[in-house]
Amino acid sequence: MTRMKLKNILLVATVAVLAACAGGDNPGREYAPNMYHSVAYEPLSQITDEQAGAWVNSLDNGRGEYFNSNKYNPHRMNMREPAPHTVKRNANGWLPYRSKNVPKDSIDILVKGMTSPLADDPKYVAEGKAMYEVYCKHCHGAKGTGDGKVADKYAGVANLKGDSYLAMSEPHIFHVITYGAGLMGAHGSQVSPEDRWKIARYVKELQKQ
Ligand code: HEC
Repeated sequence: MTRMKLKNILLVATVAVLAACAGGDNPGREYAPNMYHSVAYEPLSQITDEQAGAWVNSLDNGRGEYFNSNKYNPHRMNMREPAPHTVKRNANGWLPYRSKNVPKDSIDILVKGMTSPLADDPKYVAEGKAMYEVYCKHCHGAKGTGDGKVADKYAGVANLKGDSYLAMSEPHIFHVITYGAGLMGAHGSQVSPEDRWKIARYVKELQKQ
């Protein structure tokens, strides 16, 4: 490459950089605007203004870049909304846990007759143990006796091997993890329903040890 050519390239690049820096409220020039302005397809949006985003337009149909409504769907949404009264299920096909939060002494009445959806498989005990160690051990202790690190500082952590807890069912424990109980806070938002059932299975095992 000759010196001259290199100089020209440098000149063009400098001009381009300077042109991009505009003062005040002027945003300056943008090169390859599609790189800065995402054209993600929003499933539940309906931008009906055909000019929206015309300034970054790279589409051939003459509409703005952000125009994304679908005239065949209700409300011109991109995606159809679920049918009325649709109930979501998770990846395992499970329905959401819909029991209400109740005071501690009513949990047993609430969960009466309920059973764990998990099959009788030792792998769930092992998986529950791993989760227990993440979410419960620091309070309830490795053995469930209420002597975790947090319990050193704060009184009142339940000894899950205490007589009054031995008869607790898996659904009772599931409910407590979901909503908390008394002094214990809820863990429903951190722990998936599957993992809550696994932890409950493990706590029952722990109580036998
Ligand atoms: C921040 C500390 C803390 C963490 C973390 C914690 N707990 Fe608790 N837990 C408590 C305390 C305190 C109580 C006693 C609540 C009361 O009786 O007021 C308790 C009570 C319980 C009870 C008895 C509830 C009842 O019906 O009386 C169960 C079961 C239980 N915890 C299970 C768990 C499980 C399983 C985990 C892990 C997912 C967990 N806890 C995490 C502090 C904690």
